[in-house]
Amino acid sequence: MGKKILVIGQGGREHALVWKLAQSPEVEKIYAAPGNPGMAGLAQCEDIEVDDLSEILYFAWSQKIDLTVVGPEVPLMAGIVELFHDHDLQIFGPTSMAARLEGSKVFAKNLLHKYNIPTAAYETFESFDPALEFALGFVSNGRRVVIKADGLAAGKGVIIASTEAEARTALISMMQERQFGGAGDQVVIEEFLEGEEVSFFAISDGQNYLPLIAAQDHKQVFDNDQGPNTGGMGAYVNPPVFTAELHQEVLNKIIEPVIYAMQAEGCPYQGVLYAGLMITADGPKVLEFNCRFGDPETQAIMPMLEGDLLPVLEASARGDIKGVEMGLKPGSCVCLVLASGGYPESYQKGFPITGLDAVDHDTLVFHAGTAKKSGQIVTNGGRVLNVVKTGATIREAIDKVYREAAKISFENMHYRKDIGRKALVRED
Ligand code: AMP
Ligand code: GLY
Repeated sequence: MGKKILVIGQGGREHALVWKLAQSPEVEKIYAAPGNPGMAGLAQCEDIEVDDLSEILYFAWSQKIDLTVVGPEVPLMAGIVELFHDHDLQIFGPTSMAARLEGSKVFAKNLLHKYNIPTAAYETFESFDPALEFALGFVSNGRRVVIKADGLAAGKGVIIASTEAEARTALISMMQERQFGGAGDQVVIEEFLEGEEVSFFAISDGQNYLPLIAAQDHKQVFDNDQGPNTGGMGAYVNPPVFTAELHQEVLNKIIEPVIYAMQAEGCPYQGVLYAGLMITADGPKVLEFNCRFGDPETQAIMPMLEGDLLPVLEASARGDIKGVEMGLKPGSCVCLVLASGGYPESYQKGFPITGLDAVDHDTLVFHAGTAKKSGQIVTNGGRVLNVVKTGATIREAIDKVYREAAKISFENMHYRKDIGRKALVRED
C-alpha cells in the first residue's frame, strides 16, 4: 500500500509541495488542509484551518496519515510537531522550541552572537527610551537603522529608518501602541547591511543536513524594489551572486554552526532551515531565519529537484538524513506572482480569472489566493497565482514566464516586470 500524506497550508508554496510529492512513486494519496482549488486535482482538500491543531491531529490520526508536511510557520510555533510526536505520528518540521529561530528575533540574534555566526551588529531592548537612544545613534550619524519586532508580525515587523522621526514612529508603534501586540514588547535594533539578498534552504534532521538550493525573492511590490514589502512577488533559483565559494562559506559559517548551536541549546532543528542572507562586501550575513519553506521560492525550487522529495522529508522527520541525497536539474526556474492590484494594502476579491487553460502544457501555475465559485476560479487573496517556468538559462526562463503570464488575466491584476533582472545584470 502506498503512503498517505497530509500537507498543511493553502498557498502557492503548498501547491508546489503537493505537486512535487504527487510525483513520488511511494505516494498513494495526498490530503491538504485546507488546500486551494489549484491543487484539488492532486490532493483531497479538507476544510481544516492551519491553526486548528486538534482538528489536524484528529484528521491525521483517523486517516492514518504516514507523513504530515507543514507549510506555514503558525502551526509550528503553536507546537504541532510536539503534538504529533506525543501521538506517534510522523511530521516534517521543527518543534516550537526550535521554531523560535523564526518566531523570536531576539532568540535568533542572541544565538547567532553566542556562536559567532555572521549577522548584523545589534542590541535588543525591552524598554522604549534606551531603544530610541540606540536607534538615534545610527540616524544622527546619517546611517540607516533596522528596527525589528521580536515576534511574528505578519511580515510587517521590520522597519528600515533613515531619520529620527522614522525611528521614533516605528518604536512608538511597536513598543508603546503595541501594534503587533506582545510581538513588539522586545525589539532588535541593528545596523543596515548593504548587499544583495539570497534565500538559502537546507533540510536538517537535527544533527546532519542536506543542502538544497539558493533562490532570490523579490519582496517589494513594484519594479526596482520600490514600494512596500510583500510576501514575495517572484523568485528564481541559483542567483549568480551566490557563487560556489559563497555556497561553501554559507555551509561552513552559517548552516553547520546553526545546526550545531540548536543541538547544543537542547532544541535540535529538524525540518527545512531557510536562511535569509545578505551578501555583503564582508561576506554572507544572516538577516533572519525561517523555519519553513519560502513562498514564493518553493514554487521555483520544486521543479528543480531531480529526485523524490518524500524520502528526504521522511529522513528529516525520522532523524536520519545522513547519506540521503537530492539531485538538482540543470538550468533555471522562475516564479512570477500575479497579485491583486492594491496588495499588500487593501484590494478587492472575487474577480474571475481567465486564460488558465491557455498556458502551455509544461507551464506550472501554482494557485495561492484563489477560490472556486459556481465552477469558475476567482481571485481570493493578495497573491493570486504563481506562474512557473524552467529554462536552459535564467534568461530563457524569464522570457517564457512573462510570455505565459500574458495569457492569464483578471481585473486589477498586477505583477512585477523585472523578476530575475539582477541575475541578468550580473550575467551581462
Ligand atoms: P527580516 O524579516 O528580518 O528578514 O527582514 C525583512 C526584510 O528587511 C529583509 O528581507 C531585508 O530586505 C530587510 N532587512 C532586514 N534586516 C536588514 C538589515 N540588517 N539590513 C538591511 N536590510 C535588512
Ligand atoms: N519569501 C519570503 C518568505 O517566505 O518569508
